[in-house]
Amino acid sequence: MRSEWAEPIQSIIKMATFTERMAPVLLLWLAVCLSGTWAVDRGNFKTCDQSAFCKRQRALKPGQSPYRALLETLELTNTRLTLQLINDNNKVRLLLELYRLQGNMTRVKINELKPLKPRYEVPDVLIQEPPTEPMSLLSQDENGVVLSLGAESQRVIVSARPFRLDIMEGREVLMSVNSRGLLAFEHLRMRKDTQADPEAEKKEEADPANQAEEAVNEEEEKVEDGMWEETFKSHSDSKPNGPSAVSLDFSLPGVEHVYGIPEHADTLKLKTTDGGDPYRLYNLDVFQYELYNPMALYGAVPVMLAHNAQRTTGIFWLNAAETWVDISSNTAGKTVFGKMLDYVQGSSETPQTDVRWISESGIIDVFVMLGPKPQDVFSQYASLTGTQAFPPLSALAYHQCRWNYNDQEDVQAVDAGFDQHDIPYDFIWLDIEHTDGKRYFTWDPHKFATPRDMLQGIMDKKRKMVAIVDPHIKVDSNYKIHNEIRSRGYYIKNKDGGDYEGWCWPGNAGYPDFTNPEMRAWWASMFAYDQYEGSMENLYTWNDMNEPSVFNGPEVTMHKDAVHGAWEHRDLHNLYGFYVQMATAEGLVQRSGGVERPFVLTRAFFAGSQRYGAVWTGDNAAEWDHLKISIPMCLSLGLVGVSFCGADVGGFFKTPSSELLVRWYQTGAYQPFFRAHAHLDTPRREPWLFGPENTALIREAVRQRYALLPYWYQLFYHAYRTGHPVMRPLWVEYPQDTATFAMDDQFLIGRDLLVHPVTEEGARGITAYLPGKGEVWFDVHTFQKHNGAQNLYVPVTMSSIPVYQRGGSIIPRKIRVRRSSTCMEHDPYTLYVALSPQRTAEGELYIDDGHTFNFNKKEFIHRRLSFANNVLSSINLAPDAQFSTQSWIERILILGASKPSKVTLKTADGQESQLEFDFDASMSVLTLRKPGMNAGADWTVVLQ
Ligand code: GLC
Repeated sequence: MRSEWAEPIQSIIKMATFTERMAPVLLLWLAVCLSGTWAVDRGNFKTCDQSAFCKRQRALKPGQSPYRALLETLELTNTRLTLQLINDNNKVRLLLELYRLQGNMTRVKINELKPLKPRYEVPDVLIQEPPTEPMSLLSQDENGVVLSLGAESQRVIVSARPFRLDIMEGREVLMSVNSRGLLAFEHLRMRKDTQADPEAEKKEEADPANQAEEAVNEEEEKVEDGMWEETFKSHSDSKPNGPSAVSLDFSLPGVEHVYGIPEHADTLKLKTTDGGDPYRLYNLDVFQYELYNPMALYGAVPVMLAHNAQRTTGIFWLNAAETWVDISSNTAGKTVFGKMLDYVQGSSETPQTDVRWISESGIIDVFVMLGPKPQDVFSQYASLTGTQAFPPLSALAYHQCRWNYNDQEDVQAVDAGFDQHDIPYDFIWLDIEHTDGKRYFTWDPHKFATPRDMLQGIMDKKRKMVAIVDPHIKVDSNYKIHNEIRSRGYYIKNKDGGDYEGWCWPGNAGYPDFTNPEMRAWWASMFAYDQYEGSMENLYTWNDMNEPSVFNGPEVTMHKDAVHGAWEHRDLHNLYGFYVQMATAEGLVQRSGGVERPFVLTRAFFAGSQRYGAVWTGDNAAEWDHLKISIPMCLSLGLVGVSFCGADVGGFFKTPSSELLVRWYQTGAYQPFFRAHAHLDTPRREPWLFGPENTALIREAVRQRYALLPYWYQLFYHAYRTGHPVMRPLWVEYPQDTATFAMDDQFLIGRDLLVHPVTEEGARGITAYLPGKGEVWFDVHTFQKHNGAQNLYVPVTMSSIPVYQRGGSIIPRKIRVRRSSTCMEHDPYTLYVALSPQRTAEGELYIDDGHTFNFNKKEFIHRRLSFANNVLSSINLAPDAQFSTQSWIERILILGASKPSKVTLKTADGQESQLEFDFDASMSVLTLRKPGMNAGADWTVVLQ
């Protein structure tokens, strides 16, 4: 297809696809014919070269920094250092602020000393003003100053000429800032072709920072294309503030592996960007996204982790404007052999990764997280932006979605299908077609005439529903939501002051200004049961298209010169989706009077979005590579705090083979957010439509998920408490094992389960890497024991899901799988005790009501389970908490055990009883039958 047609035609396809009268078959034909292949149309999205500020900034060469620190301006209070920087080319001054933050972090803020008007500083993402710690001056001369940072023998060296910062621990440089001299700060200036503002000029002249000799010499500054106006395809960006980009470089000595900065469809270990485009962070609705490239996707978390065998650090670049990240490395392209050769020949230099961040506007506000362990970086980042929302337990179960379930009868039939085929599910989802003409908060009057009856039917089965509520609002004077938003002035404005309008699913739509707290409060109030007609307490919400997606906008999103109160859309683009989910989650909390935990899925996100719910990886395709990429995509999100991540099981576009579908269920069953979804035009794919064998395979995968829900729930409780990821790369737990540093095909759930799903078509076997020298791993299906560290070849069949439990761990399961997780609430537990070579094991049991905030009022059970010296015991980890459960321990399996002669249970009341047991000598598995103690009680089991 000719590229100039691509965008309008795709918009039409999208629009047309949603007009009920169009036949789906015709549309599929149209889509395939017009888009040619199933690949992204790159022409719709900017390269760095097509993004004026990126091009401008990337053209700067290292080693030519014009910035000098004016040491005479240095001021140091106990907790804050300020220092002016001057750009010797144009004499513009910047203000540097440096803080030592509690928890081993350093914050570097750089803004214009006297901007013409305020520059955007990202609000609402940090959960508090980060608490500081004292700093002190160690030495100072005309070249710079040395500051001590807290107790960790850490120092910051501020060099004056050119300006640079080095963060040291002992004699080691942990990170250098502006060491390549790529700090750039485009100061705000007056437009040449408009009348100067005499007031602003007077203020500038009167300011000592703008004394004659240092006055900004605008004449000498080059005016380049794209500074004051920029066009992309048919769209023009009026840039009322002119150029305003910021940029800074960071050098990481000793680092060869960097991770994070989601969302990209790329490997876990980030690649160097020399010779290609930088990684782009700009929330976009990318139609048919391509894999293994740095193009922007739906969400953006500007956080990068750097790791080597000694240390993990992180950089959090708090800026919500369009951002590009360049990565280079002095070892890129060298093979292990090449590096060894360098080493023996004595020619090796220290490996180093250099990173450079470029944002279109705002300020530089960077948090350097100094680890040293991976867990420390997670805690440090969590202390800034908060932790994963603790979801209702049922949200961790299986979700059945498709675009669309056609009507109430369809919903009922699908619901019944799950029962008929004995497959559990918790949530059934309704996509945009359930509404009355894409008017969110409404129901199609014919197809969903009695939504409460439908919801009640689902509730009777102890199941739930999610309905989509997108943030574009149909411009229609008969639509209450639109009228209210318009009359209250809550829409985002266009550059001329009118309500911004763009095309999306409903046709012409307005976009509520979610950055406005009043608007958010109003939006939240729309979820009240008396406002959202037909809703009930088992109805939850899906926020899609919140990048925001604007079919006829530049790059399928909003014009950057659209206006949110005092700010341009440019300044806060990447925050829009964050706010949509925030307001929605707040609505769900409020409708229950603050009692119930919300569940909201979002497609767009930013740093901090973890506080509001789950994310998914958007419109993937039913292809093996898309199944594979779901692993690094969710791992990358987990590293930056967003644990509740999943990919559309089965693939959104196209039709999976039954083999791919089964493999996807098997993989998804072990990823945090487990939802099947499919495009409107694809054939139906409920799990029982592929013959009894495949139904059985899918049933088994889903049942494995349900059995493990107690473990998932406990991990999410931890993620909520600590910010540690639920789904983890192996290096997080084995930080010194370099073999784990670039793995994309396997991962850990918590610390104790290693999953290597089968993601190759026609696979006969996989090779799983079991880490940990001196550790053992147990196959969770056969209980066979394997030693770490090794590459284990495992033959597989269609039923195989290679999963291993770490020796030394205890995992609770509920193995009586029922219709839904809620039906299993009071079911008994089975404990899987996998012994370490030292014959010890540890685990936990966390139980609460599964859906309210009462856990905050100490209504939960949290127990430590431990096995040592042949005694298994359950100890209360939260003696001040109170909760009672009907669940009891119905079985205990001890893997790697030897045969006892007698097993005695001792309960808290001093009672002793002998337990029945079986011993399987071939696998060394000891099974204790019906020990029968309450899951919340103190007890010990003694093997003799
Ligand atoms: C977007 C979503 C997809 C959804 C569709 C219709 O493409 O990513 O999940 O089904 O819109 O709402």
